[in-house]
Amino acid sequence: MGGKNIVFMGPPGAGKGTQAKILTEKLNVPQLSTGDILRASKAAGKLAPELIKAMDSGGLVPDEVVIGLIDDRMQQPDAVNGALFDGFPRTVVQAEALNAMLSKRGKRIDVAIAIEVDPSLLIERTVLRRTDKRTGQIYHLKYNPPPPDAELVHRADDTEVAVKKRLDAYARDTSAVIPFYEKEGVLKRVDGVGDVGEVTKRIFAALGV
Ligand code: AP5
Repeated sequence: MGGKNIVFMGPPGAGKGTQAKILTEKLNVPQLSTGDILRASKAAGKLAPELIKAMDSGGLVPDEVVIGLIDDRMQQPDAVNGALFDGFPRTVVQAEALNAMLSKRGKRIDVAIAIEVDPSLLIERTVLRRTDKRTGQIYHLKYNPPPPDAELVHRADDTEVAVKKRLDAYARDTSAVIPFYEKEGVLKRVDGVGDVGEVTKRIFAALGV
């Protein structure tokens, strides 16, 4: 599977980041997460105030901003032979831009994985999520408790109010990306409920590895 371009889709809390971190090691491609890139830029004091406001309140950042971020990231040597796109594309405009960027390089999306989780589980998954700021490891206070020495961060957009807005944005803008990839013949749906390891196995099966 090395050298493939894979998209991970799914609502907030579906497990995209958790699975991407496991899979990138096995597939030998980097994880390109627009959420992680934006949060790193915010932490470095380089993100414009209006973008911080959009993110923290649960809205989307404008298409041209994230398309530019991905275009830059794809120029880096580790992404030349393939990547796992996590949280991008999130609109049909972004999906079309990604196709154009890949096509310039003679590539295409090989598989788009839609991780499906019942919406009733997503608030608890996100509100109780914590991340270790030193390692980037994702934990859950109930399902995957952090070790005592972890330096935990609670994301600004992991409040119940912001998560509801993120779920609305997903339903309004991002869910349309699923039929987009279905039409391209590369969509695979994966049940995201169950143990993390069980979901990983389902994703490997969907990828055919
Ligand atoms: P982003 O960081 O992409 O957030 P998201 O898509 O909302 O996804 P999450 O990171 O919340 O969830 P996840 O699916 O990765 O779940 P995780 O593995 O952490 O984007 C954040 C914001 O940035 C956006 O709202 C927007 O403002 C902006 N942005 C980013 N990209 C953009 C774009 N392309 N266009 C425009 N704006 C953009 O898991 C969640 C929790 O569940 C964890 O605690 C985990 O431990 C737990 N968990 C995982 N798997 C399981 C399991 N199987 N069982 C039980 N618990 C589990």
